[in-house]
Amino acid sequence: MTRPAAGTPLSRVDGRLKVTGQAAYAAEHDAHGTVRGVVHGVIVTSTVGRGRITGIDTRAAAAQRGVLTVISHLNAQKLPYLPFRGVPDPARGGGERLRVFQDDRVRFFGQPVAVVVAETLEVAQHAASLVKVAYDGERPATDLASPAGPPNKPENYQRGDAEAALRQAHTRLERTYRLQREHHNPMETHATIARWDGDRLTLWDKTQNVLNTRADLAAVFGIPAESIRVVSPFVGGAFGSGLRAWPHVTIAALAARQVRRPVKVVLTRKQMYTGTGHRPVTGYTLTLGAGQDGRLTAAVHDIRAETSTYEDYRESLTMQGQMVYATPNVRQTYRSIPLDINTPTYMRGPGAATAAFAIECAMDELACELGMDPIELRLRNEPDRDPGTGLPFSTRRLRECFRVGSRTVGWDDRDPEPRSARDGDWLLGTGVAVATYHTVRAPAQALARLDADGDVTVQCATSDMGPGTYTSMTQVAADALGLPVPRVRFQLGDSTMPPAPPHGGSMTMASVGSAVQDTCDKLRLQAIRLAVEDPGSPLHGASAGDVAVRNGRLHLRDNPGRGETYRQLLARANRPHLEARGGYTPGDEVERFSTHAYGAVFAQVAVDERLGLVRIRRVLGVYDAGRIINPKLAESQAIGGMVGGIGMALLEHTVTDPRDGRIVNANLADYLVPVNADVPDVNAVYLGGDDRTADPIGVKGLAEVVIVGVAPAIANAVYHATGRRIRNLPITIEALL
Ligand code: MOS
Repeated sequence: MTRPAAGTPLSRVDGRLKVTGQAAYAAEHDAHGTVRGVVHGVIVTSTVGRGRITGIDTRAAAAQRGVLTVISHLNAQKLPYLPFRGVPDPARGGGERLRVFQDDRVRFFGQPVAVVVAETLEVAQHAASLVKVAYDGERPATDLASPAGPPNKPENYQRGDAEAALRQAHTRLERTYRLQREHHNPMETHATIARWDGDRLTLWDKTQNVLNTRADLAAVFGIPAESIRVVSPFVGGAFGSGLRAWPHVTIAALAARQVRRPVKVVLTRKQMYTGTGHRPVTGYTLTLGAGQDGRLTAAVHDIRAETSTYEDYRESLTMQGQMVYATPNVRQTYRSIPLDINTPTYMRGPGAATAAFAIECAMDELACELGMDPIELRLRNEPDRDPGTGLPFSTRRLRECFRVGSRTVGWDDRDPEPRSARDGDWLLGTGVAVATYHTVRAPAQALARLDADGDVTVQCATSDMGPGTYTSMTQVAADALGLPVPRVRFQLGDSTMPPAPPHGGSMTMASVGSAVQDTCDKLRLQAIRLAVEDPGSPLHGASAGDVAVRNGRLHLRDNPGRGETYRQLLARANRPHLEARGGYTPGDEVERFSTHAYGAVFAQVAVDERLGLVRIRRVLGVYDAGRIINPKLAESQAIGGMVGGIGMALLEHTVTDPRDGRIVNANLADYLVPVNADVPDVNAVYLGGDDRTADPIGVKGLAEVVIVGVAPAIANAVYHATGRRIRNLPITIEALL
């Protein structure tokens, strides 16, 4: 008996390639011999935060031996920049992409103003340092309180009459929470190699979506998408930063066309802070009204988040406030505020992680106000149906998440009084918060090929930025094909493969997984049909439905002795291979059911009140995310998400100098992220089960939900330890002194 591969903690099938340096990341395709004759582009960025370029002196740079060209708005080709539908979807927000080297305007500090192309990286770097740019600069608007222009058109939501209900509420609480700008800071910096062959463009790119890069660049250059190929087999982390094509991709392609050589552009760590997006600064004012029994009667959410002057970026900041608790009266306003910054973007748990900080801290404050246990308060507001849409839940096991989590951390022994627990000089506290993230599914297709040797290759133009797509898809395919894992090879990251949705929003397993399963089911059935129709097969004449495949061998279900292997079948039929295409198209399930992943997050902290130090003692997340395809990968995802949440709570903060818009901590020494000492005991429990309403393979997505709720659980634990309510993230030492 072979066990199903799905559900087992299989180690990464691509792990060996990664640790032995054989995995080719975007900037390495020349070193791996995939593309030859590569020259190097180094970007020069603006040193004012707003204004105009009055002159560019490139003479010293151009005089360096090995410099091929210096491109700026003075000599760059004019590009059509056609509209396109992609990520972000312009239908949601608005505005337009940053048009590189198309005019003299400076829209933010760190904007690309020129690129130097040279034979070697060293020459390009040196020459870039010699480019002299003169500006007519002014003080940029970089603070939500003093924007660069009027707020964009607000997003509004209303049910019932929240103001009237607030007036009658037994308890009313108004609080403002603020979250600072954060950057993704993946280990691998963004990079692109661009090569033109006539009017065909190949891009080796770091991206979470080869098809989005293809569509974006096709629109930028006004050429058909079919003439562009994007290749991205390995991604060294992204957390959302790879969901769109940033200006350096266009710069690489533009430069390659001009010098008629393949051009590589690698963002420096510093350039990552303005050359890609970030989680936007958000101010969230929440007013809650509740009865004496703790039941919420009203909630008013007033949300403001930064965007750039040229694009109206918005994220999913309002959904949680509509669906998480039974609340008859809700009003929401979400305004994006234009600033002289580069456009923000999706960062892990986009919107939801921010909203949860406000909502889950406010619920904790309300519980204190009412003298009620914070978990009890949440359970009293647990809805029977989605309060926003009125739809039944496909699955919602939040009560069970609380039960399992409380038992594990000993919640019932907690004295609710702040400052009631101590360990020497350390004040101890335990906090809790809810996590939710909506399940996203999107159309996906795949191709599977069974070769004469009995091995199968499955392809889909999806991505693996770290969660283990290669591995989980191999498991799904192996089970559908009746093959052991080593006989299945999953390939991704090439725009010539069957289409996939963005590798983000926790939708890959649901969408691509379902497509892979469908495709491999089709291939297996094709082989079975070939066998039962082949007079030479031991299975000839059997009904296809009576044939199963196990360990690469087709056999009768009730007579396993009668059968043959895929290999024998193909050899006798003289077929070099069998091929199947399949896919997944989501139905109207999410219009009929409210489908979300859930979690209860518990945090235990110790605070040295003399030093203001917060130490995490433990974070536990208990998740209802549907079926778990690979428990090892799922646990890694959760730990990664929770570590990100610890960073959000205590450390991460992109600091901008208001005088010129410069990011002052644009490096990994000054931008603080958790290290091992900051994450001593971080654990995830998945309830398992499945949600067949969500998608055919029963998953609800887990990559985002695992960061949501961590920061408020920690902030609530800090309050429990110290009696100090810190409403601005990150919770720094200064804030606690
Ligand atoms: Mo994630 S922000 O969906 O890459």
